Amino acid sequence: MHDHHQHTAHGPDHHDHTTHGPVHHAPPPDARAAYDSAYAAAQPAPGREVVRVELTAGETDWEFIPGRATRAWGYNGQVPGPTIDAHVGDVLEVHFTNNLSEPTTIHWHGLRVPAAMDGTDMVQYPIAPGESFTYRFKLPDAGTFWYHPHSNEVVQLERGLYGALIVRGDTEPQLDAERVLVLDDVALDRKGQIRPPGWWIEQHNGREGNTRLINGRKEPELTMAAGQIERWRIVNASSARYVRLSIGARPFTLLGTDGGLLTSPVTVNEVLLTPADRVELAVGPFDEGETLRIDALPYNRRSIARPKKERFATVQVGPAAPSRAVIPETLRQILPLVTGGGTPTREVHLGIRASLHHGVDFVINGEKHHRDKPVTVGELQVWDVINDTMMDHPFHLHGFFFQVLGVNDRPPEFRSWEDTVNVPPKSRVRIAWLPDDRPGEWMYHCHILEHHASGMMAHFAVVR
Ligand code: C2O
Ligand code: CU
Ligand code: CU
Repeated sequence: MHDHHQHTAHGPDHHDHTTHGPVHHAPPPDARAAYDSAYAAAQPAPGREVVRVELTAGETDWEFIPGRATRAWGYNGQVPGPTIDAHVGDVLEVHFTNNLSEPTTIHWHGLRVPAAMDGTDMVQYPIAPGESFTYRFKLPDAGTFWYHPHSNEVVQLERGLYGALIVRGDTEPQLDAERVLVLDDVALDRKGQIRPPGWWIEQHNGREGNTRLINGRKEPELTMAAGQIERWRIVNASSARYVRLSIGARPFTLLGTDGGLLTSPVTVNEVLLTPADRVELAVGPFDEGETLRIDALPYNRRSIARPKKERFATVQVGPAAPSRAVIPETLRQILPLVTGGGTPTREVHLGIRASLHHGVDFVINGEKHHRDKPVTVGELQVWDVINDTMMDHPFHLHGFFFQVLGVNDRPPEFRSWEDTVNVPPKSRVRIAWLPDDRPGEWMYHCHILEHHASGMMAHFAVVR
């Protein structure tokens, strides 16, 4: 028995998950056993290793703006937390300690982990201040992922608790350099301190902070060699900001999305990242002496805020360096889960409901923290995610990648694996996914953190 296993002595489990009605967040009675068996089952593939990482969440003084200390929360004293870098087939073992003044958990966003390692309060008790917990799971897929708390997200992510997680595959395109860019924004007051959550307007819109960050710094200057092509792995860790990304208004190449590489590269002039979205790009070559702005172009997600173009960073192009970059025509194979339009097996309605206390509540199928029907391992899921509201919502499914079949019946421009997809106002996004053999408690929700907190989420079991 490992002494760092989860503590289950936090009180009896008195939640009945089979009844109808809103879900009370609590792990099932067999959570400890599920955790123990997931822990033991996590063994590296032949030739691969166990990657051990120590993470501590705590308060830290962080300079979002150079020369100005902000009371923030970080993993290992930094914002973002350390980038975890591993290889497909490795086991990731994270020894986590909570030095915050409130409980927390870590969710491994996009990773196909066993349910018991998903870091939600449906599979584990939140880790109390001063306590430790070990996450251990195998890394099945290459791609750009991220980790963040799944407790009090509106506060914990805003203060800086998030980090990137890179999983490398055996065959990756060879570019000249790689960078990880984690986008975020933070709402600072006049003294440079993070504002507490706002009232109903912010709860309705989601927070878009006044200070835009890349890797924890306000509008940094990046430098890049002329003549080279770099691989940029980008994560949008914002609470609510949609980033319609432009790099000096130049074309760039989309190599991958949430669930790793596309089948072949796609040249674009811009790409939309909803909260929680990731993209992998090939960027360049540029000429020496050029200055390019990394901007978020105006995007109207129908919140009350007026869309405008805003800068995230600038890129200074320095002296030339030789290039060996090769972008293959075929990046990988992605077989379609469904041919044709598909027949939906379920409808998920994203909605709002009048509320006495909050103006409106954000709901799924008319209910906060909706309990959805179970899903059986191996049975193809075709879901129509329908936005009944007048604003955009980024729909996120935990633990399983899906393919987008169509947005209002229009098929997507390329096939990809996703875990987060934008659902425009009054629109229907059809997705397909296949539950592989990872039974347990799973969830989906809007990744605008304020909507998630308000109840635009649902819980369901994957059963054998
Ligand atoms: Cu980033 Cu529940 O998710
Ligand atoms: Cu919930
Ligand atoms: Cu939403």
